[in-house]
Amino acid sequence: MQEKIDQAVAVLRQAVNDFAPVCFASSLGAEDMVLTDLIAKHGLDIEIFSLDTGRLPQETYELMQAVSERYTTPLKVYFPDNALVENYVAQNGVNGFYGSVESRKACCFVRKVEPLRRALNGKGAWVTGLRRDQAVTRGNLEISSFDADFGLQKFNPLLEWSHKEVWAYIRQNDVPYNKLHDQFYPSLGCAPCTRSVTPGEDIRAGRWWWENPDSKECGLHVSATQKIAHGTGVSA
Ligand code: ADX
Ligand code: SF4
Repeated sequence: MQEKIDQAVAVLRQAVNDFAPVCFASSLGAEDMVLTDLIAKHGLDIEIFSLDTGRLPQETYELMQAVSERYTTPLKVYFPDNALVENYVAQNGVNGFYGSVESRKACCFVRKVEPLRRALNGKGAWVTGLRRDQAVTRGNLEISSFDADFGLQKFNPLLEWSHKEVWAYIRQNDVPYNKLHDQFYPSLGCAPCTRSVTPGEDIRAGRWWWENPDSKECGLHVSATQKIAHGTGVSA
């Protein structure tokens, strides 16, 4: 375990040394709380930000508040562009994402991807909490690689961590975490698109549960051109 922690810190240091300025995208999920704790404890010069889609669960907002009280490293929050949200809702309806994968990806584009572009603007690298065994779509990830979608280096320091190791770190270091994790929500996103899982179900089974596993990415971690081709109703 200590070896994995040291490796993750080494990856974060490498990002800062080679690619500054560096930012870290935190969804406030369990992995991201581990990274927040490591960045704060080691005083690493990494900006931490979160994308507030406007549809997050109340428990996530509670954690956001707890994080700003616990850590001195500030958490910067980005919001969607209001004109893009208004346009999406006018064209698709406020809960239009249940209608089709295209409509769902269009909502994710407006509420997550476009704000992410702004957050990454001017940065040399970004850090995420992705882990390899989270999903079929994440098997080929690397710890460090060039992110052609957004045009900067991308680091996944917890790539080889297991779900168990993430939780061991959280418990051992008394890291704050989302209370929904105690109610069988191992993976968390927007409230209308996340449900709890039952024993034996995949940890991401509750995310966009009405879709096939191979479409379950929101666009933060796949090709941006595909998303635009799917028709967002916005010109990006
Ligand atoms: S998602 O693509 O399905 O939504 P997931 O919830 O597994 O992603 O999170 C994977 C990583 O994407 C997180 O560790 C975090 O780095 C980034 N991420 C996801 N959602 C957000 C968000 N709302 N704000 C900032 N970063 C996010
Ligand atoms: Fe919209 Fe759901 Fe994507 Fe959130 S997860 S941005 S509510 S489609």
